[in-house]
Amino acid sequence: MLLSKHPGWFKDGEREQLLDPYVDEAGTTYFGRNRVPTEEKEKAVLEHFNRVAPRYDFMNTVLSFGIHYAWKRTAVRMLDIQPDDQILDVCGGTGDLAVYCAQRLGAEGNVYLYDINHEMMRYGMRRYENRALSDRLHYTRGDAEVISFPDDTFDIAMVGFGIRNLTHLKRGFREMYRVLKPGGKLMCLEFSKPVNPLFRQLYDFYSFHIMPIIGRILAGSSRSYACLSETIRMFATAEQLKTILEEIGFQEVTFTRLTNGIAVIHLGRKP
Ligand SMILES: C[S@@+](CC[C@H](N)C(=O)[O-])C[C@H]1O[C@@H](n2cnc3c(N)ncnc32)[C@H](O)[C@@H]1O
Repeated sequence: MLLSKHPGWFKDGEREQLLDPYVDEAGTTYFGRNRVPTEEKEKAVLEHFNRVAPRYDFMNTVLSFGIHYAWKRTAVRMLDIQPDDQILDVCGGTGDLAVYCAQRLGAEGNVYLYDINHEMMRYGMRRYENRALSDRLHYTRGDAEVISFPDDTFDIAMVGFGIRNLTHLKRGFREMYRVLKPGGKLMCLEFSKPVNPLFRQLYDFYSFHIMPIIGRILAGSSRSYACLSETIRMFATAEQLKTILEEIGFQEVTFTRLTNGIAVIHLGRKP
């Protein structure tokens, strides 16, 4: 039966294989369902986003029926941005979150979009270069596992649909913790596991049988979108991610499920 053919959701224990200690010990990690040497994952992620960059925004909108914009707006609203905040958007890509933040800033506020992929930033920049807010938006190319900003720099550090791509997830969050000022806020928006089993079956059917077809027709690649669905099913649950953030040192960690848990917003604070 069609519904049983997809690779399915990782069990909680299996998810641990994606975390730093296992990755370092084994010297391997996953890219989709494929096990790859750790040093190859970054290259594979870079190639993946180079390939999808020209159609990234369009495909996001088609595949999510536009819901990703509502998720991003909700996440930014929950940050309670102040006009002079200094904000870091890690894995910022084409900049939706960064722009929503910039719209809430005053003349003293700044958003620094930080991404390893030049193509993703370039396509994003094109959309915003003529807007008044572009002087509040800054672009830096770099690796989220070694953020090139000093300690205690930002009021807010956020990551949207990016942390799953890192080889060392905890290292990425530790870096975000480091660059936050004491009292600074963390926000992570990421895909997760829908809570209702029936809804989850429908979502699985859509992810593994409809999305790859749309991907093939509109973007010329069904594999990229099958891979996206696989990584989502291997990623930490909302509860696991909360524990990870608390272990790193974040306090007041909360999470909010969106659309039955397809996406989750985690918030935390550096003490
Ligand atoms: C799925 S996109 C998300 C883009 C954007 N935040 C959004 O919500 O639409 C993931 C982004 O993470 C970036 N990325 C992946 N690995 C990275 C790393 N190690 N350091 C910095 N950026 C990385 C990719 O280049 C890509 O732009």
